[in-house]
Amino acid sequence: MIAATVGSAVGLGNIWRFPYEAGVHGGGAFLIVNIIFVLLLGIPVICAEFLIGRHSGADVCNAFSRFKRGRSWRFIGWMGLCASILILGFYSVVAGWTVYYIIQSIQGFEHVHNADDLHNMFVQFSSNGWMPLLWTVVFLAINFLVLIRGVEKGIEKMSNILLPALFVILIAFTVNSLLLPEAGSGLEFLFKPDFSAITPSVLLGALGQAFFSLSLGLGCLITYASYFKPETPLVKTASISALLDTMVAILAGMIIFPAVFTFGQEPAAGPQLVFEVLPSIFMNMPGGMIWSILFFVLLFVASLTSTISLFETATAFLIGRGIKRFKAVCITMAVVLCLGVVCSLSFGPLADATIFGFNFFDFSDYVSSNILLPLGGMCSSIFVGWIVERKVVNAELLGTSTSTFKLAVVKAIIFSLRYIAPTGIGLVFVFGLL
Ligand code: PFF
Repeated sequence: MIAATVGSAVGLGNIWRFPYEAGVHGGGAFLIVNIIFVLLLGIPVICAEFLIGRHSGADVCNAFSRFKRGRSWRFIGWMGLCASILILGFYSVVAGWTVYYIIQSIQGFEHVHNADDLHNMFVQFSSNGWMPLLWTVVFLAINFLVLIRGVEKGIEKMSNILLPALFVILIAFTVNSLLLPEAGSGLEFLFKPDFSAITPSVLLGALGQAFFSLSLGLGCLITYASYFKPETPLVKTASISALLDTMVAILAGMIIFPAVFTFGQEPAAGPQLVFEVLPSIFMNMPGGMIWSILFFVLLFVASLTSTISLFETATAFLIGRGIKRFKAVCITMAVVLCLGVVCSLSFGPLADATIFGFNFFDFSDYVSSNILLPLGGMCSSIFVGWIVERKVVNAELLGTSTSTFKLAVVKAIIFSLRYIAPTGIGLVFVFGLL
């Protein structure tokens, strides 16, 4: 299950969302705040979700009720259900884009010669209405087939092969990007923090990115941890997952930003950033077509392992409410499909339809990542920090270990869950949202 957990964490959040959010929020400042949030809040909250999942052995619907005084915390499960469906709506659209880009890679990006062509190609494709919709539906249909067969084991095997492959290919691309003429400017943008750029919206964005990327705050990790073995070390697993996940995001940044500056593209381009920049990298590499196909296929599979974890959370929730698996998958899929259609059309026919100034795609992303996930994480941390009996927390996090180092780490985690995570998330909300 550990590979599946990392498989859930590593996905479009690292390779598509991280560079685009970092680009919009000023690069280095965003990265540094993001890393602080992962260490200070992310790892403790992952431990909290793991603990809730493993101790209860249940889905998000029932997990909280299995604890003393836990029944009134079941609302976290409902919040998680809403967040997972919202995320699936826009995530499937982006995953659909990756499928389209696999096809384009196979065709060798015909008619594309420079960065402007790539930009036009993306705009034409995404605003077309039918095309992105078609690929979203194709992606969802693949999810449906996987889910109906209940091949969680297959997903785990896939993660075992995919993750190392993705890692290797990312390192190869990083080396390639570091050799580009403007690599220095790209790295400076990503790693040199301009502290004056840290505004409340950068803080909120970095918090949302940390939770989104770690698959945190909607009960996905509760669901997965309910399948963990009693001897799985929770703190170690949480740290490894956070470390790998952050490394993948940083590598993605090291690939994208040198290319952005070399090919004269705009770091703050938004959701299309990666799709406009990556092909220009491939076109300038020997054997570019093969690299391009390989990369988009890996990205597609990484998205699939993440969406499966999101679907699994939502369907396990419905199953926990007495609905049969097939029906639960169908209900979730139907709602996600409707949302996916609306999100997909936000780049074309529905571009002018806005909620609070956001189109549907950005609205789903903003509400789920920046509000629902941190809120869910905050509630889980308060639950474990203040409600769950201390002997249960110690037994789950420490096991039978008597090492003083582990004891200190567990104490620090509990301290974060009681004080740092709730106040930190609360403060970011107060400043970022008001
Ligand atoms: N962490 C995934 C990614 O980075 O692509 C997205 C995700 C999966 C978010 C599962 C939330 C979740 F529960």
